[in-house]
This record gives sequence, C-alpha cells and structure tokens, in this order.
Amino acid sequence: MIILVGGEKGGSGKSCLAQNIAVYLRVEQNANVLIVDCDPQRTTSDWIQERKNAGLPEINCVQLYGKIRNELINLSHHYDYVVIDCGGQDNLALRSSMAVADHIVIPLRPKRRDLKTVPHMEDIISTCKMVNPKMNANFVITQCPSLPTLASRILEAKDVCRSFDIPVLDAVTFSRNIYDDSEEQGFSVMESEPAGKAAEEIRNIVNEVFSRAQGASHVVQQFKEMRAVG
Ligand SMILES: Nc1ncnc2c1ncn2[C@@H]1O[C@H](COP(=O)(O)OP(=O)(O)OP(=O)(O)O)[C@@H](O)[C@H]1O
Ligand SMILES: [Mg+2]
Repeated sequence: MIILVGGEKGGSGKSCLAQNIAVYLRVEQNANVLIVDCDPQRTTSDWIQERKNAGLPEINCVQLYGKIRNELINLSHHYDYVVIDCGGQDNLALRSSMAVADHIVIPLRPKRRDLKTVPHMEDIISTCKMVNPKMNANFVITQCPSLPTLASRILEAKDVCRSFDIPVLDAVTFSRNIYDDSEEQGFSVMESEPAGKAAEEIRNIVNEVFSRAQGASHVVQQFKEMRAVG
C-alpha cells in the first residue's frame, strides 16, 4: 500500500506527518514500512539517521526524485506500506506518486496562504484520478490553534476544502511543541509520549484515512451489486 503525504505548500507539516505515520505503522501496527524521501533537502532522511543514532526501531528510507512511478510500484511489492514525503519542489515526483498512491494525505494549516493552494491541488488530483481512479485523497488540517477563540479558523479551513471536490478529514493536528521537539531527536510523537494528545492525533488521522478508503470501496461494491441486481 502506498501512502503519499504531499502538497505544494512549504512548512504545512508534510515531513512531520509522513514520519509519524511511518512510525505508527512500523511500531504500533508492526508493519514492514519504507519511507521515500522526495525532498532534496533530505529532512526525513536526516530524521531517519537521528533515529539510528538514538537506537530507535529502524525504518528503511530511500531518496527518489523525478519520474518515480515505476520505482514506487516495484518497492511496494516488498513492503506492507510505502510512505512518501513529497513536497511541491519536485512537481514531477508529486505527480508520479499520485499516479500510483492508494492514499494521498495533503496537510494544510488553517491559514489563507495554505488554503490558496487548494484549487490547484484539486486540479492536479482530478487529472491524476484519470490514471489512478482508486486513490483515496484527503486534506488534513494541521497545526491548528488551540485557543478556543480561534476554533472558527479550523471550521472555516474545512469549509474551504469542502467547497472543492476533495474530502477533508475530521481528525486534525493541533499546534504542539512535541511535534517539533520529537522530530529534532529522531522520535515520533508516539515514542516521546505514547499516551499524549499528539500521539492520539496521529492515530486518529491514520485510522480515518483507512476507514474512509474502506467506506469508499464499500460504496463502489454496493453500486456494483445494485447494478448486477437491477
Ligand atoms: N502539529 C504541529 N504542531 C507544531 N509544530 C508542527 C506541527 N506539525 C509540524 N510542525 C513543525 O513545523 C515545521 C514544519 O513542518 P514540516 O517540516 O513537516 O513541513 P513540510 O511541509 O515538510 O515543509 P517543507 O515544505 O519545507 O518540506 C517543523 O518544525 C515541524 O516539526
Ligand atoms: Mg518537508
């Protein structure tokens, strides 16, 4: 299964989310996981090195750039999950990954400059859906403000996403220092604080992504059955 964490917006939390999803699957689900780092800045590859230095459970990581579709297909045969950290710098890698990904998670902060990328992301995704119709693409709102007076920003951000054709997850991440602090030491938030709120946010995001895909395939199955009967 290929999970792409991608999007055009810098700093929206793609690497952070890809890393935490990978650890959740590797450590809590005991799965065989590969991380693909498409960022020439090697943020996630460096984080993997930090993990090694800290003696944490190892996760394999490779760097791939450009037209990576076939490489991803080959790699996916050897792992339960391939998690891709893909920014907008390498548009070709982003599009090639979208052509084969089972799940696409696009983080956005509840900020105008992030939300401005929604129409273009929808455009790219609807094009990629022609070659990869089974993809389960979702926006996820990240780094949400925890002040109750700013709660409306989260709802507004979700509304902006909903006004386009890509669903937005109910699950979000709030802005918490633990994300940054964990990353600096090669940790995931689940390893820093297994019972913490950030760890729960990551579990909720992954579980919602998977359950939405199941929901969608269930609807397709129902539709096929209806057609067969009718
Ligand atoms: N929920 C959060 N709360 C607080 N800090 C966060 C959260 N999510 C991510 N961060 C921090 O925000 C910074 C940017 O996140 P990250 O590097 O994952 O973004 P990115 O989308 O990969 O950026 P780039 O486009 O440069 O690759 C990092 O320092 C990260 O630890
Ligand atoms: Mg990054």
